[in-house]
Amino acid sequence: MTTAANLAAPRSLRVNGLPNPLGIDASTRRLSWLLPWDRAGATPSAVRVVLAADRDHLTKGPWLLDSGKCPAAQSESDIAFTERREHASRRRVWWQVMAWDEADRPSCWSEPAFYEMGLLSADDWHSPWIAAPGVPLPLLRCAFVLDGPVADILRARLYISGLGLYQAWLNGQQVGETARAPDYTDYWKRIAYATHTVETDLLEGENVLGIALGYGWFERFAYGDSMARCQLEIDYRDGTRQLLGAKAQRWQAAPGPWRSADPYRGESYDARLERPGWNRPGYAGAEDWGPVSIAHSAPDGAMCGLVCEPIRVTETLPPVASREIRPGVHVVDFGQNLTGWARLSVEGHLGTQVRMRFAEVCAEDGSVFQASMRGAECTDRYVLRGEGPEIWEPSFTHRGFRYVQVEGFPALPAVWSVEGRAAHTDMPRRGHFACSDERLNRLHRAIDWTIRDNTMSVTTDCPQRDERQGWLGDGHLIAETLLHHFDGTAFHRKWLRDIRETQDEAGNRWGACAPPWYSCGRRRKPHRYRQQADLVWTAAGTLIPWENYLHHGDRAALDESAPAILAHTRYLAGRPDFPLIDAVDIGDHLFVGWGKEKDPTDYLLLGSAFALEQTRIAGRVAELRGDRTGARECEVWTEAYRQALAVRFYDNATGGFGSQTADALALQFDFSPDRGRTLAHLVADIEARGGHLATGIVGTRYLLEALSANGRFDVAWRVVTAEGYPGWMEMLKNGATTITERWSYWDNWEMNSHNHPALGSVGAWLFRWLAGIRLDPDAPGYRHFHIAPELPDGLDWAEAELQTVRGRVASRWERDGESVRLRVTVPAGATATVQWPGESASSPRRLECGTHDLKRPLLDMQAILDMGVDDADSRKQK
Ligand code: BGC
Repeated sequence: MTTAANLAAPRSLRVNGLPNPLGIDASTRRLSWLLPWDRAGATPSAVRVVLAADRDHLTKGPWLLDSGKCPAAQSESDIAFTERREHASRRRVWWQVMAWDEADRPSCWSEPAFYEMGLLSADDWHSPWIAAPGVPLPLLRCAFVLDGPVADILRARLYISGLGLYQAWLNGQQVGETARAPDYTDYWKRIAYATHTVETDLLEGENVLGIALGYGWFERFAYGDSMARCQLEIDYRDGTRQLLGAKAQRWQAAPGPWRSADPYRGESYDARLERPGWNRPGYAGAEDWGPVSIAHSAPDGAMCGLVCEPIRVTETLPPVASREIRPGVHVVDFGQNLTGWARLSVEGHLGTQVRMRFAEVCAEDGSVFQASMRGAECTDRYVLRGEGPEIWEPSFTHRGFRYVQVEGFPALPAVWSVEGRAAHTDMPRRGHFACSDERLNRLHRAIDWTIRDNTMSVTTDCPQRDERQGWLGDGHLIAETLLHHFDGTAFHRKWLRDIRETQDEAGNRWGACAPPWYSCGRRRKPHRYRQQADLVWTAAGTLIPWENYLHHGDRAALDESAPAILAHTRYLAGRPDFPLIDAVDIGDHLFVGWGKEKDPTDYLLLGSAFALEQTRIAGRVAELRGDRTGARECEVWTEAYRQALAVRFYDNATGGFGSQTADALALQFDFSPDRGRTLAHLVADIEARGGHLATGIVGTRYLLEALSANGRFDVAWRVVTAEGYPGWMEMLKNGATTITERWSYWDNWEMNSHNHPALGSVGAWLFRWLAGIRLDPDAPGYRHFHIAPELPDGLDWAEAELQTVRGRVASRWERDGESVRLRVTVPAGATATVQWPGESASSPRRLECGTHDLKRPLLDMQAILDMGVDDADSRKQK
């Protein structure tokens, strides 16, 4: 079908953002790919996608779906479809894609890719939840013999989950490469399971399935016994199916080496209690294993298949320093605040206990300072087998830490070492940023680590103290920056489902955390925030899907959230207090002076401003869906919020709205009756504070953009690089390797995490204004984007790149004597508009696919800057 002269084939084929996913259950599949064409002007003009039930059918059919040669206007890099078949459980679908360029030249076909559906209906699950009565952290084993020879096996799948966390082995081999499973969800709504292909792991004769259970979030918030659900399906060539897991009696249970295993407290593991060979065939010690029973108290959430990348260990860090602070007590520094655990290598006597206590900072005496963890003990204990070198790492706990204090009882063995294991939801890396100012590179790295450290099935507020929850405010405030660092396609899709599940039928969002934060108690008892609807926090349900759409152009994901977005907008417009919405109780959290002074940002303003922004976005969503009436309604409501905010909060005397945060929101959400005066008011306030911000986590997200997009990049630059309190340079000066919760580094240890994503929202600004890569909201997924870097004094060069859905977008500028060089990379199917600083928006340069080297004399630009610095409108970009 193709010839040697054909263009390079599409590559990086993905389904819902994942390569060859197994066990998915989304009704809409989004197939996407990259076109590796870098020839100048290369643009796809058409694509063809074929889907088949068998790999061999891809070339000649029969096909399940053949898109035919369809114009690439809307789908040059993806196609989304909803399958009609009612019952598609377990179905594997193969697919391939090819494309044509602007001169109608065809590409080669891509390599075949596939996706496989999971168990879509509750009836597909024949295996019950099982638990071991009286054994809180059991080992479970099931020995079985195959019904037929291995050679006759056509397909074998293991569907498995465990609450709170599990690890599984088949014939002694660990199943899957996931570090922590299942994903954290509201177990009364959904429980994630994993699908594994195990054809090649099955043996003639005896086989053994083994599962170890840890508490995870489940025990902490729901207080149930740990339990597992496991279904092994073996299909033979003669059409018969062997099913394992359906009968609890086939399983046996015994206490394992885990004495405790919980995300907050930590893990206690006694290697003397290991049962060598328990998860392999030929195990002789099964006589004293007890029965397993059906867990009737299992939460009734629907089983759900793979939605996002699993949590994996992505980096192993060696210590950078170690100090013996007291005899036998060593504090090891990894030089980096990370989320995960330590891997211990040790050799010593039987029964020696090594204790590892974790913390982000050290006290004055050099010991780990754990008070900031509040109720989280963050301590692991390992008791040695004493039979030579031992390597151990926990299986069911994690925490944020930089230091580990290693202590031995009665004394540390002579031979020991530790390594830091960093783990998180393994989203593909997307962005790179660097510049000539090392302070900003450090800031970028700290943000990057903070995002990784706080992506554990959801965006968490922090990874160390007794919270670690999916706080929605933190999540949407960091979403734009996260999407510059990582590909959040699948991860956000997972979390948005959690978020939608907190919405009630009336369209109100009544949780500030997703999954809801269940607090102490043996029954399902919601955290107090569950009753509250802090609009700024719950805005995540609208802001994240929209941000995601702008970055990835993923309509399928937006469509999943659209009904909830529109219902929520209607709910807001129907409130008795509309258009001034009184639904805020957190405010501009951690503004400068928090805890000592009253929040200078009015809560009514905050609620109404976020209602406005959500309604404006809802209008865009309605428009995209062809819902003209909905779009019109949203326009009317948006205008009502705008008017009400201006009338109620605009101060005619000053042109401001009462605080830096309020001014920034007025500019960004567009409710100031006089933008020029509001901008001047904001700038004056910053200047009066010596170039420092005063914003909390909400205002900070909008402040820099409000300044830069309105012609005062110079002030934003000053704020970002300001030395001293409050600001990011102060954070770095204090030694932060991740972003801190508060502007103050040492204040209030009850609530001063050193690994909190929210204030990292400055990260997107580095990409957008220093490297100058700015997406065009009217051409999502970087179909069109702007390259418009600013060149602040003192910066010699800056560069960034993003792996977008269309391919690599890159920008690098560098001073070169009297000139500035700019190199821009535009992927196939995209265009970029280049605008030099100060240049009028009416004379931009349009670039197509390829890498472009541009050069401008520096003096010219300076002249333009000198002339045009007040012309804010000409430089305004969204
Ligand atoms: C969290 C925050 C969160 C807040 C809500 C805190 O304890 O750590 O980041 O958004 O609660 O007030």
